[in-house]
Amino acid sequence: MSKKITDKITWVGKTDWELKKFHGDEFTTNSGSSYNSYLVQDKKTVLIDTAWLPYDKEFVSKLKQEIDLNKIDYVIALHGEIDHSGSLKELMREIPNTPIYCTANGEKSIKGQYHENWNFKIVKTGDTLNIGENTLTFIEAPMLHWPDTMFAYMDKEKVLFSSDGFGQHLASEFLYAHEVDQDLLFEEALIYYANILAPFGPMAIRKINEILAMNLPLEMICPSHGMIWKENPTQIVEKYLQWANNYQENQITIIYDTMWNDTRKMAEAIAKGIKMKDKQVEVKLLNTAKEDKTKVLTEVFKSKMILVGSPTVNNGILFSIAGILEMIKGMKLKNKKAATFGSFGWSGEAVKLMTEELQKAGFEIINDGIKVMWTPDEEMENKLIEYGKELV
Ligand code: FEO
Repeated sequence: MSKKITDKITWVGKTDWELKKFHGDEFTTNSGSSYNSYLVQDKKTVLIDTAWLPYDKEFVSKLKQEIDLNKIDYVIALHGEIDHSGSLKELMREIPNTPIYCTANGEKSIKGQYHENWNFKIVKTGDTLNIGENTLTFIEAPMLHWPDTMFAYMDKEKVLFSSDGFGQHLASEFLYAHEVDQDLLFEEALIYYANILAPFGPMAIRKINEILAMNLPLEMICPSHGMIWKENPTQIVEKYLQWANNYQENQITIIYDTMWNDTRKMAEAIAKGIKMKDKQVEVKLLNTAKEDKTKVLTEVFKSKMILVGSPTVNNGILFSIAGILEMIKGMKLKNKKAATFGSFGWSGEAVKLMTEELQKAGFEIINDGIKVMWTPDEEMENKLIEYGKELV
């Protein structure tokens, strides 16, 4: 079902209530998502982005109810990822000569996926497209979050189409951010930022400052996922500037995996010590073998310090910790401290190996880590409590 945004802009996307996993198995989407596509009808008619491939037929058939496809003068592909370009093939079958405006990298990514020689029109920052009363200005936004990404600004309507930027995986019958539960909205926006955009924080700050310097009047930000920012749209821009600027809360997250509960006992004793020393700090314990990885990465993103624990197994570390450390490394976080811990029976390499991984991931390592041979006894538990106090 289409939804009118202004006289000239209609949402013609797909709300995906069923989506539970995104990027393969990488990103858990507890609140579903939407693939926002916008139909702009000025003197010229423009379609901005499409919907994910599994919904291509549904997308095109609903679009036909909205408009004769032959009336579409231009297609704009802000970003080539399949959740936004996936219906292009179905659409372009009907209107094969319609120009597709995208960046040079956008053409490469779309051609690479669909192997079609459509009528691409390459645009760069500052290029414009007059569509009647309005002019669209393109703003390249490389690595937010693909090299091909761009934004488009519609001047008279004062709307920024921001691709994945400022999006959330949040399905709703509402259209606007101010209409939904605010805690859920900002939680989903933070989860989205932490899991997709965190590695590109410096680019996000540069791009936001570049756009702010253009002094564009802004009444709405229309992202490619989730809710449209209409009331006070700059609030999400301010959040992004906070999140991109080495964000941390007063939180210490302890992530661990355990075989026979010895490393879990260590985690709990260290947590107890931290809390005894500092009642204000939020301490979260997450068993990576049982916890959703999107949640783990989000909590790591929010933390000022993380402690990572694994027993030593076959001279190495447990699978779930190895996997999460690889994902954490990809986040390219700065301004966070880390230390490691783990139980062992004979060789005990895990603590050193995890410390090396955290170092590679850019964390400030605060000590050599703490190891316990076999099961911590009462004396050792007290030592771990003291260790927790020292960490604070
Ligand atoms: Fe929502 Fe990068 O695609």
